[in-house]
Amino acid sequence: MGVSVDEAPESAPRRRLDRELPLGVFDSGLGGLTVVREIAAALPDERLLYLGDTARVPYGARSASTVIRYAQACARALVSRRVKALVVACNTVSAVALEVLRAELDLPVIGVIEPGARAAVAASRTLRIGVLGTAGTIASGAYPRAVISVSTRAEVHAHAAPLLVPLVEEGWTEGDVPRLAVQRYLEPLARAGCDVVVLGCTHYPILRTIIETEARARFEHPVAVVDSAHATAAELATMLTERKLRRTGASGASGANGTGDIELLVTDRPRAFQEMTARFLGGPPRDVQVIDL
Ligand code: DGL
Repeated sequence: MGVSVDEAPESAPRRRLDRELPLGVFDSGLGGLTVVREIAAALPDERLLYLGDTARVPYGARSASTVIRYAQACARALVSRRVKALVVACNTVSAVALEVLRAELDLPVIGVIEPGARAAVAASRTLRIGVLGTAGTIASGAYPRAVISVSTRAEVHAHAAPLLVPLVEEGWTEGDVPRLAVQRYLEPLARAGCDVVVLGCTHYPILRTIIETEARARFEHPVAVVDSAHATAAELATMLTERKLRRTGASGASGANGTGDIELLVTDRPRAFQEMTARFLGGPPRDVQVIDL
């Protein structure tokens, strides 16, 4: 399955995209680093420029128009630093702002919902698919739309899990508090007989172990927990190859080596972010630069 990439409108001046440029990736905060980790593993020669909008996190409880405005500001900040493609590593932004960004920007823009929906359908036997996401993502109906576009026979049970993002942002990812929250959020999916739980928020893979353990204990069917990061990285690789934008060792560049060549920008609280980078990306805490949008 290819990646849908919008071309610039005929009249817009065309940006010259150079394969040596970094990939721009953004999220409201830390969660997008789960996507960065997968991109770095799938595309080790690529350079990555990541922006976490930590001044405005969480996006998930805000209106669609506010999220669109924030997303435009994040995209502008990355595009002005010169990137060759944009990865929207946030389900909430992918749910409400992807088409706006694609229409406005003259470079490829990839979101996380379509790859996640395809991965969910592929992992399901019963086609009863459960989705957990932020209030904004669930209210948008983006997951049912994306899943149904892959399989019209699928049944989607999508529920908001608003406490999970603050738990991850606080680093509270083990023990009774996250476990009880996860149990509560999984209940309607278990009742509906789902055999897949989609982590419809890029923060949730950090709670994956708890979610898997609790789902296995509660669901009647064997259950697969799916996140879109891996599928998004694979689709990004295909798009870069098709568009001849893929940076490789053979292009004369030195390999970025695992999770090496990643520049990190935030809009607030760089120290707190820095402390969490080791956990998301491995290795020592990374340098983090603060920018204003
Ligand atoms: N990581 C974002 C997502 O995937 C949500 C976090 C937030 O609410 O800002 O939806």
